[in-house]
Amino acid sequence: MTTLIQQPLWQALLDHQKIIAPQHMRDWFLRDHDRFDRFSIAADGIFLDYSRNRIDEKTLELLCQLADAVQLPAKIAALFSGKPINITENRPALHTALRDGKATSLLVNDENIIPAIKRAQTQAEEFVAKIHTKSWKGATGKPIKSIVNIGIGGSHLGPMMATHALSPYAVTDLQFEFVSTVDKANLDDALKRIDPETTLFIISSKSFNTIETLTNANTIVAWMKGKVGTAALAHHFVAVTAAPKKAVAFGIPAANCFPLWEWVGGRYSIWSAIGLPLRLMIGNQQFADFLAGAHEMDLHFKHADFKQNIPVLLALLSIWYNNFFAANAHAIAPYSHRLRHLVDYLQQAEMESNGKRNDLSGNLLPYTTSPIIFGEEGCNGQHAYHQLLHQGPHLVPVDFILIGNEFPDVHHDILIASGLSQAQALMHGKTYDEAYAELIAANPADDKAKQIAPHRVIPGNRPSNVLFLDRLSPKNLGALLALYEHKIFVQGAIWNINSFDQWGVELGKQLLPAILNELQLTKATTQLDCATEGLIRRYKASQRKA
Ligand code: F6P
Repeated sequence: MTTLIQQPLWQALLDHQKIIAPQHMRDWFLRDHDRFDRFSIAADGIFLDYSRNRIDEKTLELLCQLADAVQLPAKIAALFSGKPINITENRPALHTALRDGKATSLLVNDENIIPAIKRAQTQAEEFVAKIHTKSWKGATGKPIKSIVNIGIGGSHLGPMMATHALSPYAVTDLQFEFVSTVDKANLDDALKRIDPETTLFIISSKSFNTIETLTNANTIVAWMKGKVGTAALAHHFVAVTAAPKKAVAFGIPAANCFPLWEWVGGRYSIWSAIGLPLRLMIGNQQFADFLAGAHEMDLHFKHADFKQNIPVLLALLSIWYNNFFAANAHAIAPYSHRLRHLVDYLQQAEMESNGKRNDLSGNLLPYTTSPIIFGEEGCNGQHAYHQLLHQGPHLVPVDFILIGNEFPDVHHDILIASGLSQAQALMHGKTYDEAYAELIAANPADDKAKQIAPHRVIPGNRPSNVLFLDRLSPKNLGALLALYEHKIFVQGAIWNINSFDQWGVELGKQLLPAILNELQLTKATTQLDCATEGLIRRYKASQRKA
């Protein structure tokens, strides 16, 4: 099979890039007043303005041909139908099945998985109802007031991000805490804020094998037994896991275990019982809306023509900059305090999925894959890293995420104006003549104007997308997350990589036990490199001796 870059289409894109690269978007916008209308679309509560990209119709045409050339339609069909597209683990990636309320049958290894999904949803609904009606009691007979999620990676980022995003939709006054890192400070801080008699701990771990989560869980169980006695496990702990036997061996009653399946990737698991904190916060009905929003985006992704398909377009734009403009970073700028954890969530979603260097046959790729995802909520990012976006040497495309507002509010107006002005500044920039004229207008006798003006030049021509949501509702959040999942899928499909494994994180896990062993012994027993040994000595010297 010819690799992607050997195909004439790739060469056509390279040639086309040479035509587009010297052109400035500022000039396009001056000439073309319909650009916004032609390069914007709406679907499922999300409006995408992608007019501030270094593209024309020909670019889109070529990029859509690229999607066809890699057989994207067949790959999308394989995703939804449950083919084992995660080839290194021989598994399908069926997060979409978790939000398809109408499905009746979907076979994985000859087994229909839909009844198990429905049973798990019913189990979660009944559990939420028990907590909300206060019929679930702690070991000392008191109802639950606080929920502590213990998990990391995909078992943490989704629930944490979504409970912050949708807090205005809370139907209870339950308090939520998240303990993820093994740094005891995280746990200690959370435990200070809760009452053990009225707290429920959710141990979320697909593998039930993750050292951070199990260490935190062990410490908490011991602490809880000391506070409420041996009934702690039955009354204060539930588990969400694809390894229920391990959870039961840990001491969690089988009835308190919520299932997860191998065919749900950790970073794609918010739609399963991993989403329990969100379900507890917004209730079963609104959680169903969250799933429905994602499902509607699934249908859009499956059926819309590529030129009208938001996830496909965002993926193609990302390929355009990543592979043809050597832009190796991508910023996410949610102008929404409630979406402040979205960047962390998308970092795992995109970089753990597409941070790969081998194609599906194991060959080293001759092109780059996932950009570095970073960002910060607006306006905070503006006063931190946006300087580099405007004047730094790197081309960094940005996704601005803006949320509408029901009632007039000066704060919100300023927030939106900030996001829009950043997108405009990135696109338009400031020429030398404009910078010079500004200086002279401020001080006609300025004899340093020529010297200072170059420092004030902003090149512009820096691309951005604006994703606009009327409301940050459960349904729209579901659609937004599904949109990014599918964007990531399309990137992976074009790069011909497996977006659903994460072998890169395993080596650190393998090395940890030997190093931990050295830290806890008085004498070195293992051969380690001198840097690790030196730092172990320093760490030990820092410990106060008993
Ligand atoms: O180490 C990476 C990873 O496997 C992620 O993919 C996953 O979301 C996280 O660890 C947590 O894993 P688990 O849910 O099995 O504890």
